[in-house]
Amino acid sequence: MTPPTTRPIPEDLVAIATEAHTAAYCPYSQYRVGAAVRTATGAVIAGCNVENAVYPLGSCAEAGAIAAMVLAGEHEIVEAVVITDGDEPGTPCGGCRQRLREFAGPDVMVHSISATTGVAQSLTVAELLPASFGPERLPT
Ligand code: THU
Repeated sequence: MTPPTTRPIPEDLVAIATEAHTAAYCPYSQYRVGAAVRTATGAVIAGCNVENAVYPLGSCAEAGAIAAMVLAGEHEIVEAVVITDGDEPGTPCGGCRQRLREFAGPDVMVHSISATTGVAQSLTVAELLPASFGPERLPT
């Protein structure tokens, strides 16, 4: 059992991520995920998982939110919420940890919440992905 978080959960992000969770297209896994990110300018942008009959082509909720964020011209995440099915909160997959890392500093909070029980787990980007590789390693 995941211990309840002591970190404050941003209710506006929870509301938007919950809407995205409801919109998820997941006929194969039946596992809904909604994500919402707040950007440095204060915009809140959501995404949901979108599966495909060709299973590997499915995409994660975080990837959808990040794609929409970039389309909106935003490149900096300051906080994120992920709402999942299951009794325990589903923390972002490895690939999505790296996707978040591209646009979020090490101290950015990522709140994972079970839509079923409300149990939450809040971890920083650095906690989710320690010793990570990021864009600053590459020549500009
Ligand atoms: N999923 C996400 O949307 N985000 C994650 O970080 C983990 C997994 C989705 C992908 C797939 O549609 C379903 O959850 C089951 O893996």
